[in-house]
Parts: sequence; C-alpha cells; structure tokens
Amino acid sequence: MATTQTETLYVQHFGKDQNRKLDYYLSQMNGYEAAKKALSMNQDDIIGEVKKSNLRGRGGAGFPTGMKWGFIPKQSPKPKYLVCNADESEPGTFKDRDLMRYTPHLLIEGMLIGGYAIGAHIGYIYIRGEYTREAKLLNEAIDEAYAKGYLGKNILGTQFSFDLTVHRGAGAYICGEETALLNSLEGKRGEPRVKPPFPAQAGAFGGPTIVNNVETLCAVPFILSRGGEWFSALGKVEKSGGTRLFSVSGHVKKPGVYEINAGSMTLRQLIYDVCGGILNDKKLKAVIPGGSSAPVLTADEIDVIADIEPMAKIGTMMGSAAVMVVSEDYCVVKLLQRIAKFYAHESCGQCTPCREGTRWMEDIIHRIEHGHGRTQDLDLLLNISDNIAGKTLCALGDAAAGPVSSFVKKFKADFEAHIRGEKCPNA
Ligand SMILES: Cc1cc2nc3c(=O)[nH]c(=O)nc-3n(C[C@H](O)[C@H](O)[C@H](O)COP(=O)(O)O)c2cc1C
Repeated sequence: MATTQTETLYVQHFGKDQNRKLDYYLSQMNGYEAAKKALSMNQDDIIGEVKKSNLRGRGGAGFPTGMKWGFIPKQSPKPKYLVCNADESEPGTFKDRDLMRYTPHLLIEGMLIGGYAIGAHIGYIYIRGEYTREAKLLNEAIDEAYAKGYLGKNILGTQFSFDLTVHRGAGAYICGEETALLNSLEGKRGEPRVKPPFPAQAGAFGGPTIVNNVETLCAVPFILSRGGEWFSALGKVEKSGGTRLFSVSGHVKKPGVYEINAGSMTLRQLIYDVCGGILNDKKLKAVIPGGSSAPVLTADEIDVIADIEPMAKIGTMMGSAAVMVVSEDYCVVKLLQRIAKFYAHESCGQCTPCREGTRWMEDIIHRIEHGHGRTQDLDLLLNISDNIAGKTLCALGDAAAGPVSSFVKKFKADFEAHIRGEKCPNA
C-alpha cells in the first residue's frame, strides 16, 4: 500500500547546505514571523496555544509541552532558563542532527518564543560533544540572528531580551537525562538529581527551567504562526499533534529520517511502504521501535500505530522514534549483548541497582552469546532486570532493563539454543 504524506514541516528543507542560512529561513520558511506575533501576545495565550496543539515532547517521554511550560512559576527570585536538549544520545536516533544542520533558525525561533512564554531571558542549547559540525553551524546561525536583532537586547524593538548559548557536552549518554544535563551545564559531574524538585521549580543554577528536545522546540514557530488547532489536526490519533520525525536504521532498503503525521501509519507501513522493506528481501526478525531502550517487538507485532499511546498499549514505547529494524540474518543474542554493553558503560554509577545490575546483565549475556550460558541464566536475567526497573533515580535503569526482559521473553528459543551450545540458527 502506498502511503502519502499530506504535509511535511521539516524534511523538505533537509539536504541542501544553503537552507540553513538566515536568507533562506526568511524567504522560504516565513522566518521569525511567528516570533513577531508571539512577542505581541500575552504569555499565557502562547502557552494556551501550545496546549491546544497537543504537542508532546519529542525527547522520549512524550510529556505535553504546553502543560510543562505551565509549571513555570510566574514570579521567581532567581532567573528562569530555557534549555534545549540536543544531546541526541539514544542509540538509533539521528533526527535532531538534521534539524540542527538544515533548520537551525527554526530551533532558534522556537527557543525565542519558548523563552518569552516562560519568562526566561537566557537559553542554552546543550549539544552532544560528537556533534562538532552541528555545534559550529548552530553558532553561525546564532551569530546571524544576533546581527539582525532576533537575539540579544530588545528583540524586534520590544522590551524582551534573550541570549542564547551553545554548550557542548563531552559524550555521555546520561547527560541526555534532563537533570544530569543541568548538572553538566553547571560544570558538575553529569549525574541525575533527586526529583522533586523538578527543573520547572529548581533547574539550572537553581532557577525555574524548562528542558525541551530539539524537535519539540522546532514545532513551536509552526504552532504560533498557524495555530494550535491546525497543528493538533496534523496528528491522526488523540492526544498527539503535529508530524513526527522517525530515524529509521538497520536492515531496511532505505534508512533515513522520515516525517509522517503523528499516528498516521503503522510500523509495518513505515518499514515496508516508506522504507522499502527489508534489505535483500529477507524476513523481518525484530523491530526496536523507539531507540535502544524501547522493549523489542517481534515481526508479528508491527501492525501497531506508530505513536505514543498505541505503542504503550502493547508494552513498548515510541521513545525518540528511532526505529531499528533487524532481519532474520542477525543474531538477537548478539544484538542484546551489544545493547547491554552500552548501558553498562553509560550507567553513571550513582544508583546501585543500575551500576551493578547493568554489569551483571552484560556479563551473563556475554557468556550466553559465547556458548558458556547456563539453563538458569534466563531467569536470572529477568530477575536482575526486574530489580533495576523503577528502582533508580532516573530512567536509565528502565532503559537498560526493558530490552533485556523483552528480548529474553520474546526470543527465548534463540537464547536457549545458544545455551545448548547450538550456534544461532540464522546468523
Ligand atoms: C538516560 C536518558 C537519556 C536521555 N537522552 C535524551 C536525549 O538525548 N535527548 C532528549 O531530548 N531527551 C533525552 N532524554 C529525555 C530527557 O530527560 C527529557 O525528558 C527531555 O529532554 C524533555 O524534552 P521534551 O519534553 O521536549 O521531550 C533522556 C532521558 C534519559 C533517562
């Protein structure tokens, strides 16, 4: 079945270097018109429009953006901050990179509007250390915006001033977690904080802070210029507005970043109709639907609508919309070993269940993969993952536990074959 995309907000601007320039943004994307409109509006009305839009955070948890902005106290003795989470560290995710490469002014305008709406005069873009090129491009775009008065003092002749700084991380997955990110931004060790207080009460430097993903903030100018209801109607399922960028990788014929209306198709349609199906026309073995922390799906579970609630209903998650496709040729035990190694390496070590448990899981899966597994290892893995999930300060513990328990339960035969010393049947 052919799938048609009715309207894209972002992808038609991807791919050409000149599109990142301010000239292009002003002439082809109605650049900074939404900010002009927003700066003449009441702040509550802006937040109301974002609430109406049904924009949900694109960073992983899918929290309603308007509601989050509404948590910022009106009065605060400390400065307020807007922080863009550009850490993009969830394995399989690479959509924010394209947004920063090709539509940096969209992000700057989204931050300008967000900053005004919450009463922040300072914004930070916390970008993963490996994105050296994107950090440079963002800084160039920020310079252009300052030169034309879209950033800095008295923006567009108003009383509102907003300064924006790019802050580079040093390559730690945990610094994508919003409170670890804030610690890192403050120059401290990147460890998650105890919550509450949540960042909206006490975030960066103790001030009320909103942390939003790149894609979330890039949606904001569209919402302001065309209205919350219009944005909401782009979504085809309840409680989910706009379009969504999917990073599709693995064994598909056409991997890449795809934009679809939220909830407008199933994972099967995305993989087969949009991405051309499985490489070399092999059979599908598994799909990790929302970044490596999302519980795995088997080939017969992909008729689910690719959006937040439908995915949650079948026990997995939309996460960062990074869809990793695995063909029958690949060994799922080896794949889980790779994932477990990542989480063991990236655990910050603050919480004992995560620090110890991720190592144990990695060791056990390693011995299964290398033919030294024991019959009781599968129950042991389930027991350890159960003792991590929900028992840590941040969701890295859940992120490490979910893949282990889902792989072991759904591909038990593959694990048992390895334990019996048989080589993986397909790989
Ligand atoms: C271990 C871990 C890593 C995370 N990495 C990222 C990331 O790279 N980018 C991101 O936007 N959110 C990431 N998040 C989610 C953030 O904590 C936060 O929920 C998000 O930035 C909020 O933005 P949103 O409401 O716009 O989605 C991560 C969460 C955890 C627990």
